[in-house]
Amino acid sequence: MTPFSQSLEQKFQELMARYPARRSALVPMLIYGQDELGYLPPAAIARIAELLDESEMAVREVIGYYSMLRLQPAGTYHVQVCTNISCLLRGGDELMEHCQHRLGIGNRETTKDGVFSLEEVECIGACSWAPAVQVNYDFHQELTPERLDQILDAYQQRAGAGERAGERA
Ligand code: FES
Repeated sequence: MTPFSQSLEQKFQELMARYPARRSALVPMLIYGQDELGYLPPAAIARIAELLDESEMAVREVIGYYSMLRLQPAGTYHVQVCTNISCLLRGGDELMEHCQHRLGIGNRETTKDGVFSLEEVECIGACSWAPAVQVNYDFHQELTPERLDQILDAYQQRAGAGERAGERA
């Protein structure tokens, strides 16, 4: 029994064949699985463990290590605000506070309508363009609260139009 689509199951087979050690496919499988389901429920963990002939505990340990992997559903748009040193010096904290106020949620919470979730994160590799925010797979840089409002407005509109941004091709 699998919670994944047939096409993703096929992709898993290709990933596992790509590496000399099948276990090396674990992280990409988790990322693709999360992309499809929105998070990694127990059924997803069990299926990936089965495919890799690993224990569910071993899979959960890897999920626990990577902050981008989630055991709980996130919003359609997962807003990750960097407050690490470069962003902190250029207003990252203010952006985080602004998001909390604007969205009415705290760190690692999801809005009631499920459109946005919010997370304070460590460096996302955009230090030269701080302060930076990542929404799903989209990067937004050199932000001010006003510019961030415009960006969140655009995502809100997309959610209303039934689209989903930042998905992998
Ligand atoms: S410190 Fe924020 S992107 Fe590096």
